[in-house]
Amino acid sequence: MKLCICGLGYIGLPTAAVFASNGVLVNGVEVNQNTIDIINQGKIHIIEPGLGEIVKSVVESGHLKVSDKACEADGYIICVPTPFIGDHEPDLSYVDAAAKEIAPYIRRGNTVILESTSPVGTTERVAAIIRGMRPELNVATESSEDCDVYLAYCPERVLAGNTLNELANNDRIIGGINKISARKAAEIYGIFVKGELLQTNARTGEMSKLTENAFRDVNIAFANELSLICDRLDIDVWELISLANRHPRVNILNPGPGVGGHCIAVDPWFIVSKTPKEAQIINMARHINDNKPEWVKEQVRKAAADLYGKSFKIACLGLAFKPDIDDLRESPSVYITRDLAGEFPGSVLAVEPNISELPANLQGLDISLVSLEEALKADIVLLLVDHKEFKAVKPVFREDQKLIDTRGLWLR
Ligand SMILES: NC(=O)c1ccc[n+]([C@@H]2O[C@H](COP(=O)([O-])OP(=O)(O)OC[C@H]3O[C@@H](n4cnc5c(N)ncnc54)[C@H](O)[C@@H]3O)[C@@H](O)[C@H]2O)c1
Repeated sequence: MKLCICGLGYIGLPTAAVFASNGVLVNGVEVNQNTIDIINQGKIHIIEPGLGEIVKSVVESGHLKVSDKACEADGYIICVPTPFIGDHEPDLSYVDAAAKEIAPYIRRGNTVILESTSPVGTTERVAAIIRGMRPELNVATESSEDCDVYLAYCPERVLAGNTLNELANNDRIIGGINKISARKAAEIYGIFVKGELLQTNARTGEMSKLTENAFRDVNIAFANELSLICDRLDIDVWELISLANRHPRVNILNPGPGVGGHCIAVDPWFIVSKTPKEAQIINMARHINDNKPEWVKEQVRKAAADLYGKSFKIACLGLAFKPDIDDLRESPSVYITRDLAGEFPGSVLAVEPNISELPANLQGLDISLVSLEEALKADIVLLLVDHKEFKAVKPVFREDQKLIDTRGLWLR
């Protein structure tokens, strides 16, 4: 079997490598020349345990090659970015570009799979692009029983850091535009997936991925809203949640400084933009989570007001969007640290055990990247991420120090 995989990032590269290590000839398609060069040397441009070894071996064996052009293959998989633009509208330009790139090479009997997290209807949009460019081919429609080109939506739900294990072992949703497309796509993933391949239609598949992330977002928003209510009512939210969770059917998540990353903070907008009137809770949850950093900054302002006239330091502990990773994309902690540095020039220290230098959007802002030990001496200590390095210590704060603990790590 030969596959052509478009987009070799956090999802596309592990997918390409795992197919290739199972004997599939994989042609990777990339728009980033630097990424092409790195992978063709048998190296990787992302951090993922175990991936480097597999990529080295499949490049050496000739099973994985990357270029900026698609080619003829048995199947095509699209793993390109799907960010939002403007007022939270999905940007499908990368998906459109990938569909146009592969369309000229598609032959009868091929299967085209969209893996990018996408608004409902995007698989049909890819089918329409291929149909428009290749009118001689009978491209799958919802009502066609058989066709020349099969189309499916197969979302990815792996956890960064455990990608290789989860790629193979997670159950996987396979949403065919028609039934035969789902069967064809399931045959392809059956090459390496040990989890169950759950066949459905493309629209349900698209919505399932968005639903999983919206579910997480709404539940985090509930916890974040509780933290604001408890602050107003002078109640310890962490004690409250631990008590409420003793109810056998209650499981409240933990509040935090907001929601970041490229999935949970993005994907619910794809539901809201399609169905704004109906998606009330999902929309509200996005706003609650997006506003939490404002509340956190307000706590720091109040603490700083108590130090008026004195020189003081604010230490921001953690910049990543979740514990124990180096991923700072859409991280609320980064935005909080950046804004505090603007408001309190020369006062802000940052600790992030998973990086060695500040990200581009924090450089030139008078922020010092310091050790945890030094940060714990600051006048205001703002805990933003519960990294294992922070969990490992039990600091004793001076009377004149103020701790703002958004994760409840040292308060519990
Ligand atoms: N990273 C995750 O944990 C994760 C999990 C589930 C779903 N997803 C979804 O998977 C998709 C890809 O995410 P990612 O994290 O791998 O993104 P990424 O940014 O790491 O990788 C995408 C790659 O696609 C390349 N690209 C862009 N346009 C292209 C084109 N027209 N042709 C070929 N290559 C192109 C980019 O250069 C980049 O290398 C997104 O829709 C994302 O929401 C990601």
